Amino acid sequence: MDSQHKPVYYGTYLHLDRLLDCQEPHSEVHDEMLFIIVHQAFELWFKLILHDLDSVLALMNRDYVDESDVGLAVTRLQRIVEIQRVIIEHFTVLETMTPLDFLEFRDVLVPASGSQSVQFRLIENKLGLLHDRRVRFYSGDYWRNLSDADRARAEASEQGPSLFEVIDRWLGRTPFLNFGDFQFWRSYRGAVEGMLENDRQIILNSPTFNDTDRERQLANLEKTRESFSLVFDPDAHARFVEAGQWRLSFDSTLAALLILLYRDRPILQQPFRLLTTLIEIDELFTAWRHRHAMMVQRMIGAKIGTGGSSGHDYLAKTAQSHSVFTDLFNMSTYLIPRSLLPELPPDVERALRFVHEAGDA
Ligand code: HEM
Repeated sequence: MDSQHKPVYYGTYLHLDRLLDCQEPHSEVHDEMLFIIVHQAFELWFKLILHDLDSVLALMNRDYVDESDVGLAVTRLQRIVEIQRVIIEHFTVLETMTPLDFLEFRDVLVPASGSQSVQFRLIENKLGLLHDRRVRFYSGDYWRNLSDADRARAEASEQGPSLFEVIDRWLGRTPFLNFGDFQFWRSYRGAVEGMLENDRQIILNSPTFNDTDRERQLANLEKTRESFSLVFDPDAHARFVEAGQWRLSFDSTLAALLILLYRDRPILQQPFRLLTTLIEIDELFTAWRHRHAMMVQRMIGAKIGTGGSSGHDYLAKTAQSHSVFTDLFNMSTYLIPRSLLPELPPDVERALRFVHEAGDA
């Protein structure tokens, strides 16, 4: 340690005097202290999520992202996952307050509301939630009920780049989409057609289906076949994007698929971890929204919120539709069993190993 280093006192280092002096209930109700501290604890965790998210954005928002930076990004994103797991549990502490106790001081909160949590809005925007995809609970933008300073921060965070955008660009640059002479996508398409034909035979020959079942299953199979046009045909992909059913670019979609299909290859392991961590973060925010919505229903039933929304009904809708990395979840549609995967030529296999592997010159 630096000999010039000034001794530090625990409470001074953590500014506990300030931290522990900013809980000011507006009523005499015992549980208002719980309500304040739980919210403050959430906001501290939101702060750390933003700290890590910003660093990941800085690491990934480059024309070339070094493999070790991808590793660092994954580590920090995994920390966000762990924070999310912890904060979902915070709701159980708040639920030791009964709905009747909450009613004792609820009125002093109006019109303050969690919907004014600017840090929560920053997280959503930095992850990549699009302004137009938000569920609205009154006419006008979500920032209508924010202070001018908070509104400026929220608006600025919409300018990006968001995590979705940097990941989209990074995936789109993957060098593994073309393998020289090897026509991967033609082989993959052949494998998909083989798989769908196999499914068709199962439907046609299954003794458990009657004619109506069989017809329905064949129609479903046709839909699955059509959905594959997203990865086979750039024009079809563009139509999915236009209709708001897909967001990742065509190249990024193929890259993500390749990573998921060949995730065992050494060079694709880190990208695979990155994609799965993004799925986890998205899933846990959805879980957070569900958990919050359920707690709200338990506390206020069908009453409107202090911020003026329909309460539980509005929050349940956000849980359904505020996911950002939906495309990554839906990539599973395009996975095929390992046994059907096109075998990669030896030079391609070599390219998917790390450069400095033993035996390589
Ligand atoms: C008794 C406890 C709680 C109740 C009854 C409650 C109720 C509500 C309601 C009704 C809304 C919708 C907006 C409105 O009309 O006000 C909302 C939004 C929100 N609340 Fe809570 N809440 C509680 C606790 C918490 C806690 C502990 C947090 C942690 C920070 C939180 C964070 C949020 C956030 C971030 C939103 C915005 C959600 C969105 O618009 O997507 N709430 N809350």
